[in-house]
Amino acid sequence: MADDQRRVRIAILGAGTVGSQVARLLIEQKDDLAQRIGAIPEIVGIAVLDPDEAREDDLPRSLLTSDLGALVAEADIIVELMGGIEPARTVLLRALNGGKSVVTANKALLAAHGPEIYEAADAAGADLYFEAAVAGAIPLVRPVRESLAGDRVKKILGIVNGTTNYVLDEMTTKHLAYDVALKEAQELGYAEADPTADVEGYDAAAKAAILASLAFHMRVRLEDVYREGITEITPHDVAAAAESGHVIKLLAIAERTEAGVCVRVHPALVPLAHPLANVRGAFNAVFIEAEAAGELMFYGKGAGGLPTASAVLGDIVSVARHLAIGGKGPRESNYVDVPVLPLSAARTRFQMRLRVLDQPGVLAKVAAILGKHQVSIEAVRQPPRAAEAPFAHLVISTHEAVEADLDATVDEIRECDVVNAVLSVLRIEGE
Ligand code: NDP
Ligand code: HSE
Repeated sequence: MADDQRRVRIAILGAGTVGSQVARLLIEQKDDLAQRIGAIPEIVGIAVLDPDEAREDDLPRSLLTSDLGALVAEADIIVELMGGIEPARTVLLRALNGGKSVVTANKALLAAHGPEIYEAADAAGADLYFEAAVAGAIPLVRPVRESLAGDRVKKILGIVNGTTNYVLDEMTTKHLAYDVALKEAQELGYAEADPTADVEGYDAAAKAAILASLAFHMRVRLEDVYREGITEITPHDVAAAAESGHVIKLLAIAERTEAGVCVRVHPALVPLAHPLANVRGAFNAVFIEAEAAGELMFYGKGAGGLPTASAVLGDIVSVARHLAIGGKGPRESNYVDVPVLPLSAARTRFQMRLRVLDQPGVLAKVAAILGKHQVSIEAVRQPPRAAEAPFAHLVISTHEAVEADLDATVDEIRECDVVNAVLSVLRIEGE
């Protein structure tokens, strides 16, 4: 039973897509949550930019304020759902330094300024929870940070951005233009305030940095993550992927190898039979390979106000329980000292599409360039949907090769006299 004398004071910073749902659920489910926490969760205020602006939600107007400092001073738990770096960074550091616990969904902030925020939390003995910062509703941070804390994670492979998965899925299944699909994703509340963060891969890179840091017990910074977005993906790429039995997905990949750790985000061809190929719409899915656990898969809604609110509320309950009945969340674990490797060290399979002269000896010339750079060909296809004379299209898939070798190969192929254009080079993952 909740002790009705006891209250946990909660400040919600932000009442946008996520914050408005968190506040609504906290109000509507207050009695249930009080039972689970062992104290009554009380919202002391909700910070917005302009409290007088007309809003679509039904939140009590008396709770709205633009005075972040005063609101934070009143609360025990700060729930940061404003997004962006400032003022979120300054406000959270001040709150943590004052011993207040923090729940945030702000992956951009954690990926850019994680170390100082973790350090402030650890120094003050305050909780720092951020389940919603990676893959929205999917319980993923907690499993990696706590459930797998006794195992050795070897690889993470996942779709961690709902907006880009939605866009690529609509381009694949409904043949929608990129712009139309992106506009839909924004209207559905999946996209970041500036969708560049989604489509250029920054959002996925931030999540990859957070996941890799937790999984490998080290600090992986945003700038350590190789990043490519989906803005260069054309309807031709999508159609060509389908012809070769693949679908294009924006993947986040973090690997621990003998030499160190490599973390990258880029579009990749995923075979149609692979479970990631069937992750539709704004859903996310993440595979984790760990030494003892083997393969694990996490799947669910990676974006949207209500699903994300579920993850935020889970964190609020954990932190509030600690305040009500004792206990502490995990501290940062960053003892591993191995290098973060550049992309050039990664090994992957590739598929390149070329427009070449349709004449004898062309394939031999191209194959010789691949061979020279130690890139082994797995298959070559000349699609019947031929290019206009005098050209043909060649689709070449390779065995696993080192990125640096592939780069050198593509540079030389571009200069080759029988090659009219390198139409695309995409990595193949999940085979
Ligand atoms: P929104 O842009 O919808 O909402 C931001 C809210 O913060 C608004 O209510 C805004 O006020 C308020 N705000 C912004 N700056 C200030 C400030 N300086 N002072 C006071 N209030 C401020 O963002 P989302 O809800 O989409 O995202 C919030 C966080 O959750 C981000 O970190 C995002 O990355 C993360 N996230 C979002 C997901 C999603 O699907 N949308 C999924 C997972 C994580 P006002 O209403 O007046 O404009
Ligand atoms: N914009 C993000 C996405 C929200 O599309 O996945 C969740 O972080």
